[in-house]
Amino acid sequence: MQPFYSRSFSETFEMIIIGSDHGGLALKTALSSYLKRRGFEVTDAGTNDDSSVDYPDFGQKVAETVIEGAAELGILVCGTGIGMSIAANKIPGIRAALVTDVFMARMAKEHNNANVLVLGGRVLDEQNACDLVGAWLDATFEGGRHQMRLDKITALEKKYS
Ligand code: RB5
Repeated sequence: MQPFYSRSFSETFEMIIIGSDHGGLALKTALSSYLKRRGFEVTDAGTNDDSSVDYPDFGQKVAETVIEGAAELGILVCGTGIGMSIAANKIPGIRAALVTDVFMARMAKEHNNANVLVLGGRVLDEQNACDLVGAWLDATFEGGRHQMRLDKITALEKKYS
């Protein structure tokens, strides 16, 4: 057993909850398979068919599960990722990052310690999306000055809640 600090991010975090609306359903299904192939335990928060649903409902479910600690990380997918990221970031303690390339996905962990990754099902193809999720999972939060900045975000949450 490796010590905690020398384990990779993907070895440290094992439970991931994933949710989408109808616009993100196909990509959610593909990402769920990708995560299982990589050995993660995946909880599917829905939606499970392509009837029209409201993305805030699924953003709330995934975000609350992460905040409660029942999952370490969350992934959200809607058509663009925009609505899901707006909704999830309303929950104090959630740092939801909408990303469209590998650099952003890596930075979302290294600098922002994003606990929810958000993707656009009508923006990304499956392979690209898996690459982004992999970059986020394999990256490590750098702490230091970045933690000080996250502390300022936490202070903002307290001020306005
Ligand atoms: C649903 O049509 C669409 O608005 C939603 O998936 C998302 O893109 C919102 O931001």
